[in-house]
Formats: sequence, structure tokens, C-alpha cells
Amino acid sequence: MNKIAIIGAGGFGREVKWLIDCINTANPTWSFIGYYDDDLTSRRDIPEFLLLGKIEEINTIEEPLALVIAIGKPSIKEKILNQITNKNIFFPTLIHPTTIVGNDVKIGTGCIICANNILTCNIELHQFITLNLACTIGHDTLIQSYTSIMPTVNVSGEVTIEKNVYIGTGAKIINQISIGANSIIGAGAVVTKNIPANATAVGVPAKVIK
Ligand SMILES: CC(C)(COP(=O)(O)OP(=O)(O)OC[C@H]1O[C@@H](n2cnc3c(N)ncnc32)[C@H](O)[C@@H]1OP(=O)(O)O)[C@@H](O)C(=O)NCCC(=O)NCCS
Repeated sequence: MNKIAIIGAGGFGREVKWLIDCINTANPTWSFIGYYDDDLTSRRDIPEFLLLGKIEEINTIEEPLALVIAIGKPSIKEKILNQITNKNIFFPTLIHPTTIVGNDVKIGTGCIICANNILTCNIELHQFITLNLACTIGHDTLIQSYTSIMPTVNVSGEVTIEKNVYIGTGAKIINQISIGANSIIGAGAVVTKNIPANATAVGVPAKVIK
């Protein structure tokens, strides 16, 4: 079994540990060794032997190690990735066994796809995308790198979500919409019009507030 560690020892990090446990129950794949985080002092809920060190220490690892970046904020994921130069590190995509992946779905490296997602057909996910619990992603949709989609978001067909987008819990994106890079969609929003880059949009229907 390949060794695997998680970057980020917060709540989502521990959920990703559970995701690894579920993958191993279905098909023993990973030997979990612990967490890297720049702020390990506040992590009293995790046994000390699983706290492996700060992110900079990853660059000194001398054997192959799989890493998962369990961080919600897209720009932080990208920043962390740029810090890691060690050729021994690789970034697998983790998919919970209850997730349903349809036809012609391409998924890049480093993605985290949690329990009970459904991806239908002709969908492309670039790298380091998070689909948190129970989202649906409709046909002919493109999601670009580092985007994080929170629980129970529904993305309809022919949607384009650019790089570094954060979509809050329970939001709904209707069909043929595009969401520009670095934008934030509030929890519970219903997005009915294209959202420009670098915007924050909230509400039903979603309006840009920042
Ligand atoms: C959209 C969001 C990012 C805005 O955060 P923010 O930039 O700090 O904005 P503020 O909290 O200052 O709110 C600005 C205004 O928008 C309103 N607002 C914020 N979020 C909203 C939402 N989801 N729906 C409707 N209105 C919202 C606030 O009430 C406030 O209105 P006011 O100016 O009339 O008082 C945040 O509220 C949100 O929805 N985050 C998603 C959280 C989530 O899904 N987490 C998942 C964890 S698994």
C-alpha cells in the first residue's frame, strides 16, 4: 500500500482522513501516516504521532509519498502546491466509493471527491478540485483548477466554472452559466446569470455584492 498524508489538520482534513478510510474499506489502497500543517499547536484533537510537521518539511522527504491538500480556500491550495518542489511527492485524486461517475468524465490530479457526489456525462475537472459531500455536476460542464464546491451544490448542464472559484453550501447554478476565476458564490445562492471574475455573489437570484 502507498503511504499517504494530508495537508491541513482542520475539520476538512479529518473528513478527508475518513474518505481515505472509506476507500480502504472498499479496496485497501492507502497507508495513512498523518497530517502536515503550519499550525499544529492548536490540533489537540489529533494524536501527536500523526502530526508530522510544517509544510516546508515536505520538501525533505526522501521516499515516495502521496499527499492530499485538504484546504477549502482555492488560492491557499495553489500557494501550498507552489511551495512543494520535492519530486518524491505525488498528488492522487481520491473518490469516495459512493460517488457515481458517469460517461466521458475526465478528472485531473489532486482532486478530492467526497461521499455521494453524482457526475453525469462529458464533464471535465481540472486539477486540485474539491467536490464536498453530495453535489451533482451536470452534463458538458467544465470546472477549472483549485475550485472548491461545498456540500449539496447543484451544477446544471453546460456550466463553466473557472479557476479558484469557491461555491458555498447548497448553491445552485442553472444551465449554461459561467462563473469567472476567483469568484465566491454564497451559501444557498441560485446563480441565474454569468458571474464575472473576482466577484462575490449571494442570494436568490444571486447578485454580485463585491
Ligand atoms: C458569501 C460569503 C463568502 C460572504 O462572506 P463575507 O465576504 O464575509 O460577507 P459578509 O458576511 O460581510 O456579508 C455581506 C452581506 O452579504 C450577506 N450575505 C452573506 N452571505 C450570504 C448568503 N450566503 N446569502 C445571502 N446573503 C448573504 C450578509 O448578510 C451581508 O448583508 P448586509 O450587508 O445586508 O448585512 C459567506 O457568507 C458565505 O456564504 N460563505 C459560504 C460558507 C460555506 O458554504 N461554507 C461551507 C463549509 S463546509
